[in-house]
Amino acid sequence: MATLSERNDLKALLAWYVDAGVDVTVGEAPVDRLSPAPVAPREEPPVPPPSHRTMAPPPAAVLRPASTASQPAGGTLSDAAFSARDLAARCQTLDDIRAALAAFDACPLKRTATTTVIGDGNPRAAIMLVGEAPGAEEDRQGLPFVGPAGKLLDRMLGAIELDRTKVYITNVLPWRPPGNRTPTADEIATCLPFAERQIALVAPRILIAVGGISAKALLNSAEGITRLRGRWVEYRPQGAPAPVPTIAIFHPAYLLRQSLAKREAWRDLLEIQAHIERLN
Ligand code: URA
Repeated sequence: MATLSERNDLKALLAWYVDAGVDVTVGEAPVDRLSPAPVAPREEPPVPPPSHRTMAPPPAAVLRPASTASQPAGGTLSDAAFSARDLAARCQTLDDIRAALAAFDACPLKRTATTTVIGDGNPRAAIMLVGEAPGAEEDRQGLPFVGPAGKLLDRMLGAIELDRTKVYITNVLPWRPPGNRTPTADEIATCLPFAERQIALVAPRILIAVGGISAKALLNSAEGITRLRGRWVEYRPQGAPAPVPTIAIFHPAYLLRQSLAKREAWRDLLEIQAHIERLN
């Protein structure tokens, strides 16, 4: 017998499907259900330590060659960004990142934020998501994606059988921009090395850039999310041994305002699910 909270979760999941335009329970590609091949239950494989992980199959498309990230498109790095790079590069663990951010005072956003929001989820997960910056609720709780957009993100992950035990989540910026304003290029360049170092340390097999700010910052691209989303690209964070297949998706905060975009978001989620199945 499902509990009330399980029933509410199911209702939320169904609402997500309906919003995403899923009105029949068949996929777009035919499936041979008469095939004798047994369908193994899909389970998250044990994730070996990062240094032992194998790379995923090559992504469908390469947007740009793996390059030195963190160099703002067409811009120069500020002193703050340089010292962030230095500090981040010396971090060997996520605890080091936490300590480094506690000691780092060169980003003015830290002064107006209540907390430093680092990561949530499973730091040994094969799937990592990087959002933009904490909002009001995240700033209060010190955790990424726990406000309204985070609740939608959880439903989106649930729709492809993921949850926070199977992913690690962080943001490009660990501090909330006042009033949730868009972060400046300088703020992004200053904070990005810490996000990139987290990616290198977690060493995911799939990286998901959540929203345009994250996609542009990580992929060092001037293109908007509408063009960047839904395509696999290879992204190599500073200090990472190998490139990570990376895909951008619409930000859930955008989906809360633009319900129609949930159709594309659903396609992207299915693409991510298919990629995960190929890894297994
Ligand atoms: N939006 C983000 O990009 N990240 C959060 O943590 C919350 C909202």
